[in-house]
Parts: sequence; C-alpha cells; structure tokens
Amino acid sequence: MKLIVVENYEEMSRVAADKIKAVVNENPNAILGLATGSTPVGTYKELIEMNKNNEIDFSQIKTVNLDEYIGLGEKDPQSYRYFMNENLFNHINIKKENTFVPNGLAKDIEEEAKNYDMKIDELGGIDIQILGIGSNGHIAFNEPADALTSGTHLTQLTESTIAANSRFFNSIDEVPKTALTMGVGQIMKSKRILLLANGDSKADAVKEIFSGKITSKNPATMLQMHKDVTVIVDKKVGELIKNN
Ligand code: F6R
Repeated sequence: MKLIVVENYEEMSRVAADKIKAVVNENPNAILGLATGSTPVGTYKELIEMNKNNEIDFSQIKTVNLDEYIGLGEKDPQSYRYFMNENLFNHINIKKENTFVPNGLAKDIEEEAKNYDMKIDELGGIDIQILGIGSNGHIAFNEPADALTSGTHLTQLTESTIAANSRFFNSIDEVPKTALTMGVGQIMKSKRILLLANGDSKADAVKEIFSGKITSKNPATMLQMHKDVTVIVDKKVGELIKNN
C-alpha cells in the first residue's frame, strides 16, 4: 500500500486526476471505476479541465460506478446517476452508453446485481477504481458488519451513513435506507485502486487501513490484501494517522 500525503483537497484532486490520466493515456479503452460523494468532485473537475485542454480523451473509455440508492432514478437530483451526469459525464467526450451505474429502479434488484457483476466481468474488469471512504470505514456501501459480501448486492445503510449523507437532502427522512452496491470482492478484483480521504472525520478509519489487521468492522481494511492500492490523504489526515 502506498500512502501519498498532500497539502490539501485541491492537491489531492490534482494528483488523483493525474493518475487517472496516466491510465487513460496508456490505455484509451480503459475501464474506470468511479465513486460519488464529495470526495471525488475536485478530481472530476480536474478531469473535465484536462478533457477541455485535449490532455485526455474519453471517447473510448467505459466507466462503472460503485453504487446507487434504491428507489432513485436518473432524473432524481439525489441519484448517483444524476450526480455522475452533472459532475462529470455531461462535460467530457464520453459516450453515455459507455457509462454504467447500478439501476436503483430495477424491478428485480437481485437480477440487476447479478447483471452488474456480469457486465463488469464482460468489460474485462476495472483498470482503476476510485474510492472514497466513510468515517466508519465503508467503501462503496459496504458497511461495517459481521460478514462482508463479495458481489454486487442490496445493502441497508447504517444510521451514521444516512446521517452523513443527509447533507445532500432536504431532510434526513428523505435519505434512502437501502442501496445497491458493488461488493468488496468485486472492488478487490480491480487492477488498481485509488482511495481518497480528506477531513478529520476520516482519519481513524484510514489509520486502520495501515494497521496490518483486517476486520469486517472496517471494510476498507480489506484493501491491505490488494497488491496495487494508493491512498491519498490531505496533510491533516496524514498527521492524525501518524500521531494517533
Ligand atoms: C460513493 C460511495 C461512498 C463514499 C463515502 C464517502 O459512491 O461509494 O463510499 O465514497 O460515503 O463520501 P464523501 O466523499 O461524501 O465523504
């Protein structure tokens, strides 16, 4: 595991975007694994800028997203499909049909989950997966639990995740309680993983990724078993990791 400590959020976003650019420039047909939430927004802004400056070409790129809320469709501003369109896809030269986000409106969620895993395998797997992290250690929506699920699956969000995500909604009652998420096994199949973390609230969870111990109570600790993971943290998280 590689740890990169950067000055601030802006630098984290630039370094992450540079790493994605390197993957795309090496393989113009690459499969990018993408995340939503506040963390990757700056990275996506950098990628949009690079695309405008002809430094990166998305015309042959395919993307797969980590998760989607159950019950929210692409027109719902709180859905992750909407988020991706707004924060990245609408501003770059990617073909929409090459972008995949689990369908939170699928009638048969189990079938949707199975098809999503098959789709990723069919595409040849993820070349680089971008991850944020929850303050409880969740990656995608794999929440702390007694056991983790390998493939894409329906999951119940924890109270702390619902509370954290309520900042995007009018009220906490509007936050969906369930989501469709890529499982930890599917994430671990990615060829490379880039985890981004900024803000004090993430420090404890990130610190455990470097503890040498793996526990389902902090799903991100599983990443220690992957051979190509880079963790980028801001200086504050970096200091808290070292000093705690
Ligand atoms: C989003 C996702 C989540 C977030 C995590 C951190 O697709 O899978 O695991 O990465 O909840 O969210 P932010 O970045 O908003 O702090």
